[in-house]
Amino acid sequence: MPVTAVIGAQWGDEGKGKYVDILAQDAHVVARFNGGNNAGHTVINELGTFKLHLLPSGVFNPKATCIIGPGVVLDLAGIAEEINTLDKAGVPLKGRLFISPRCHLVMPYHRVLDRLYESAKGHLSTGTTGRGIGPTYADKAGYNGLRLADLQRRTLFIEKLSTQVSIKNRLIGALGGEPMDADKIADEYFEYFRILQPFIKETFGLLQDAVKSNQNVLLEGAQATLLDTDWGTYPFVTGSSTLVSAATPGLGIPPRAIDRIVGVCKAYTTRVGNGPMPTELTDETGDRIRKIGREYGTSTGRPRRCGWLDAELVRFTAALNGFTELALSLLDVLDTFHEVKIATGYEWGGQKAHYFDGDAVFLEECQPVYESLPGWEKDIRGVNRWSDLPRGAVNYIERIEQVTGVPVSMIGTGPDRRETIIR
Ligand code: GDP
Ligand code: IMO
Ligand code: MG
Repeated sequence: MPVTAVIGAQWGDEGKGKYVDILAQDAHVVARFNGGNNAGHTVINELGTFKLHLLPSGVFNPKATCIIGPGVVLDLAGIAEEINTLDKAGVPLKGRLFISPRCHLVMPYHRVLDRLYESAKGHLSTGTTGRGIGPTYADKAGYNGLRLADLQRRTLFIEKLSTQVSIKNRLIGALGGEPMDADKIADEYFEYFRILQPFIKETFGLLQDAVKSNQNVLLEGAQATLLDTDWGTYPFVTGSSTLVSAATPGLGIPPRAIDRIVGVCKAYTTRVGNGPMPTELTDETGDRIRKIGREYGTSTGRPRRCGWLDAELVRFTAALNGFTELALSLLDVLDTFHEVKIATGYEWGGQKAHYFDGDAVFLEECQPVYESLPGWEKDIRGVNRWSDLPRGAVNYIERIEQVTGVPVSMIGTGPDRRETIIR
């Protein structure tokens, strides 16, 4: 199974970084294809604890070629800093990290506009990470974007940038922000371009060759299915497609080349930012999950909203992506609960309902239908053999497989790479 994709099955932060780090141990190529530094992927292995935002989480295999594909939006300061941090940690990337010149640039005015739009929308805001992601993808779709390749042509870049800054300054001014200076931005971006020069290279041939020669290629999704622009809870979504299919435009890989699609799914549900979440628990149980699971955003530190596992959602995201398996993460967080619940479906107006029946307002009105299972009340932290799991945990996993229709192939019993059951 040479091409494997790792995709978030819920609202993000499912532990994708950990599973990419695990699978990357056998990968020749690891690639990011969507999102930007709104992503925060945690990896804990023998080299330490890392929070990656733009670099693929497979960087720790020194033999793996790392690709940042054209679907990713690049914050130049962010990527330069990450490369530097890894270099200091003994993970050099020269000669094996390649960033597509087609990547769109997150510009300083995108970050400013992100915040201004959010505050103008007040209680209707999305609750973004403030990294300028939506405005960058909006400019990409509206033919107003600047790409990494544009920095190669100095005069043209300055002209394009000046045009954008003059447009954006009118918008920023109307929304009560401070105008921006194109010359200052140009100097800063040319300097980052110089620093990043050794890593910029067209990635199409690299990836096509890897696929043709049957190498192990690992595709790392950022964000998650329910944040997808089309199929997520719009407008409480992110600016890019987050589905496995986004790897085609986002990297230049044919859809039929992808043969293994791992959905990473938390053993419960979390969400950060605004928007509907049917199983959210605003009571003591929700607080308990947050505390034990340390559910605070990897990029922004915001507390995550927590609730029981919503299997209606996972059944939907599995169908949409065609998950061939699930990695069930953070199972150890539920160790102390006397009872665990799974939402197996919804009710709306006294009738059976599904996620895909309506929009975000509809979802807000849906009532989850719960099934209760006995907890295992045993410490499973670090367990890495299926046969060592308590009966209650096995029952819980088997029930998730039944309700979602997808086999669970990996189980997380702690944040460290080793704290994993591979079935
Ligand atoms: P990602 O965005 O999907 O890569 O996930 P994040 O890194 O944002 O959030 C997942 C969090 O859960 C991180 O703090 C991980 O270290 C942690 N984590 C991952 N798997 C497990 C697990 O099986 N058990 C526990 N307790 N923590 C885990
Ligand atoms: P990883 O890859 C969780 C959420 C934000 C907000 C919405 C839009 O770590 O799973 P944006 O800044 O993208 O315009 O914000 O999407 N969001 C995430 N939530 N994990 C992420 O990434 C996220 N990236 C964006 O909180 O609700
Ligand atoms: Mg995250």
